[in-house]
Amino acid sequence: MNRIAVLTSGGDSPGMNAAIRAVARTCMFNDIECVGVMRGYEGLIEGDYKVLDRAAVGGIIHRGGTVLKTARSDRFRTEEGRLAALEKMRSEGIDGLVVIGGDGSFHGAKALHDLGFPVIGIPGTIDNDITGTDETIGFDTAVNTALEAIMRLRDTASSHDRLFIVEVMGRNAGFLALETAVASGAEYAVVPELPLSIGNLCKLLRNSYAEHKSHTLIILAEGVMSAHEMREKLQDTGGYDARVTVLGYIQRGGHPTSFDVVLATRMGAFATESLLIGKSGMMVGNINHKLVLSPLERAWSEHKSLSPELLSLVNKMN
Ligand code: F6P
Repeated sequence: MNRIAVLTSGGDSPGMNAAIRAVARTCMFNDIECVGVMRGYEGLIEGDYKVLDRAAVGGIIHRGGTVLKTARSDRFRTEEGRLAALEKMRSEGIDGLVVIGGDGSFHGAKALHDLGFPVIGIPGTIDNDITGTDETIGFDTAVNTALEAIMRLRDTASSHDRLFIVEVMGRNAGFLALETAVASGAEYAVVPELPLSIGNLCKLLRNSYAEHKSHTLIILAEGVMSAHEMREKLQDTGGYDARVTVLGYIQRGGHPTSFDVVLATRMGAFATESLLIGKSGMMVGNINHKLVLSPLERAWSEHKSLSPELLSLVNKMN
């Protein structure tokens, strides 16, 4: 291989820039050229490429977002769009591609692999909903960002003896909500993976108010319902005055934690080296602190479960 391209696709996540840098620097280390594709698969079709030399990836390691920008491409979902992208890459002399993103991005990567083009995926999403890796790039930062906001909410919750329902992202999964709940010492985590009984929740709130617990926190995953909806459903808040906070896109921005930078750097180097030794159609994962490859389709065909240990900890600690 002489030229490898890298793109970011789907929702951005903190640490993507560190992964882009690691891909580019690993290419340099191996005396090959690295090309950055702008705006994900959309830029891949249009040929919106730029050479990533040493200077182009200098100073980005700690920056949030993605310097390559990201987009969701409807055109790439069609066979025509994919063939156009393939044609563009071949005409630019690109021999392999690294795709950084979530499972939607991996569907696109798999399609290119099936057309005979070498592709390796790197899991980058704050949702951590990808099987084949213990952590995705950006998850740790998003948990810490949510935690910082919740520590502020706790101050005002305790001053006013209030119940706060805090809605966090995560799409259809509860990883972000559960980890945030344990880290913040929240009393409840409401996640899509577990059935929710509003009646039971009201009862628990009544009990905790009766036990003189001055304030309470519910961390709600967006995949269950919105925090405003939950506030309406909780007719009986057990005596607490309830308030709602939606953390929203705050969780996607900001500079990555050291954990995410190190993970992204390891994954970027490993993905590039994997392409160079002829691997394709695989994603990089970090399992028990070790980097491994697994088929891209594992990301969407196998369910990733929430940690039973963390789930029981929320109950034990409340
Ligand atoms: O997948 C990351 C994520 O931030 C989810 O947590 C959220 O549901 C979604 O993206 C929001 O997507 P969009 O940027 O299209 O609004």
